[in-house]
Amino acid sequence: MVTISAIKADVGGFPGHHSVHPEIVKAAEKHLSKAKRSKLLVDFRVLACGDDLQLIMTHRKGIDNKKIHSLAWNTFVEGTKVAKRLKLYGAGQDLLSSAFAGNVRGMGPGIAEMEIEERKSEPIVVFMADKTEAGAWNFALYKIFADPFNTAGLVVSPSVAQGFKFEVYDLFEKKKVILKTPEESYQLLALIGASERYVVKRVYTRDDVVGAVTSTESLNLIAGKYVGKDDPVMIVRAQHEFPALGEVLEPFAFPYLVKGWMRGSHHGPFMPTSFAQARPSRFDGPPRVIAAGFQLANGRLVGPEDLFDDPSFDRARQRANEIADYLMQNGPFEPHRLGIGEMEYTTIPAVLEKLKKRFKPIK
Ligand code: F6R
Ligand code: MG
Ligand code: MG
Repeated sequence: MVTISAIKADVGGFPGHHSVHPEIVKAAEKHLSKAKRSKLLVDFRVLACGDDLQLIMTHRKGIDNKKIHSLAWNTFVEGTKVAKRLKLYGAGQDLLSSAFAGNVRGMGPGIAEMEIEERKSEPIVVFMADKTEAGAWNFALYKIFADPFNTAGLVVSPSVAQGFKFEVYDLFEKKKVILKTPEESYQLLALIGASERYVVKRVYTRDDVVGAVTSTESLNLIAGKYVGKDDPVMIVRAQHEFPALGEVLEPFAFPYLVKGWMRGSHHGPFMPTSFAQARPSRFDGPPRVIAAGFQLANGRLVGPEDLFDDPSFDRARQRANEIADYLMQNGPFEPHRLGIGEMEYTTIPAVLEKLKKRFKPIK
């Protein structure tokens, strides 16, 4: 068995909330190299999406392992040291606790891990997003694993056609439910269309082999106040009994709307970009997604291949810009701005407080 752990955190932005400084990437690589030399890790890659540092690690320890989580935590601490030295913005932003308690879950970083039996050939895609929340993967996962207009394999390939199982988390109530597609597609959509509350955690084959896993940590639910967006990650296995690589990427040819963007308080188009272009600038966005393709070779990460660095996604980027123009012109009006209940980072309580005495009852 091999475990793939994608663990990410924003430990400081350069400049502002824009991107990860190369020195942070270097410090993280140095720290993880030691763990590879000591054989704790089989392999690793350090990537960045916007202002989020991404650790992609393979090992034999299983998910939720204390040593691996502590390694990730310490790597973020090393990155934070660099961020503090360079006075980068929001140094240590996502390290919500000052002491590590054995598991990074609930401490700020986002985590997606899967333990798998490596197949004869094991293509995987690690998706990384910036300026959006965990529920941003819902739309894509439904398209990939349940929509025959996206995934031809659901219609024409016997190894995919039996459908899948979706494990859905209710982030508010801390409960989960498994729904089967195609027979429970409508119930599944009823839930995951409300992507702020219901998020797809994992997708399994009918025989319970894991095919996808996402990070579902919600920073504001952990901290009880706005402390930045979650900027989630997701790992998806491709080919054979899973959707083909092109079926896994296809949902992102449509820049669907996600929550996040400026101050985590707006709807924006989800823009697929190359690694180099994963640097949100306009109105702190638009929200970005990158896709790193790998082949596993006995746990070794062969790759990454920069999968959205392809002209076939140019139209999605262009459309995302058009949608961004249109939404931006709506200014502070809903639904460009999130609904009042969803606004985690807002001056509204302060505005209301200031006007408190001037409000009179309507007769
Ligand atoms: C959104 C995000 C940014 C910041 C914005 C204000 O996830 O990170 O849009 O919310 O740049 O940041 P502060 O309050 O740190 O100046
Ligand atoms: Mg930031
Ligand atoms: Mg970020």
